[in-house]
Amino acid sequence: MSARDLTGPAGPSPVSMVGMVVAVDGTSGSGKSSTCRGVADRLGLSYLDTGAMFRAMTWWMLREGVDVHDAGAVAARCDEPDLVSGTDPTGPTITVDGHDVAAAIRTDEVTSAVSPVSTVPQVRARLLQLQRTIITAHTGSGGIVVEGRDIGSVVWPQAPVKVYLTADPGARAARRALESGAVDVGATEQSLRERDRIDSGRATAPLVMADGAAQLDTTTYTLDEVIGLLVGLVEEAGAQGAAR
Ligand code: DC
Repeated sequence: MSARDLTGPAGPSPVSMVGMVVAVDGTSGSGKSSTCRGVADRLGLSYLDTGAMFRAMTWWMLREGVDVHDAGAVAARCDEPDLVSGTDPTGPTITVDGHDVAAAIRTDEVTSAVSPVSTVPQVRARLLQLQRTIITAHTGSGGIVVEGRDIGSVVWPQAPVKVYLTADPGARAARRALESGAVDVGATEQSLRERDRIDSGRATAPLVMADGAAQLDTTTYTLDEVIGLLVGLVEEAGAQGAAR
């Protein structure tokens, strides 16, 4: 698959963001969340963090005492939790059965259990339905930036803008360690590589670069630079009337 060059000049000013869907996929720690929130905020779009949905499902499984490595057990219960995702980029929220789990889903316990849970096809099917419902609700109005692993390839392949973010594993680990206060950057890198391996190797909706996606290696860019590059891409697509 060919990658588009994102370092050229940004496109013209936005014409309309109505119906805009920006699909952003990539590896753990490539800067997806900060980038997507920044892009959505600058363009007045909504924002959906699908990774948070997989984390919330995982949090619920752990709380219920379900063995996350037993795919049958996870599949049997995955229709039970009521997951609600907020879409404000300046204050994303997520609740499970009415509990605010925004902080609880970021613990090491959830982080190390989320990849096995997200390999279970029934989990993916349930969350796919929720994700499509949320995106559909935004295509008739202001548009949305959606981040994950399979947004451009499976969830919304018709997205007018698809981006695939990557970064050098060492840089990703350093960023994550800085965010979480972890001192052992080597262990963080090992954990990221392990999640990459599971996310890319699973049978259902593996992490791949979607057809037509623009690839950006963020290793040497600042967050502001990456946001600026993506805003340019989205504005260009909006000006061309792609968001319909
Ligand atoms: O983006 P994140 O690190 O919060 O995602 C947590 C996990 O969820 C990630 O390891 C893989 C999974 N995931 C997925 O399988 N598909 C998505 N669309 C989003 C996340």
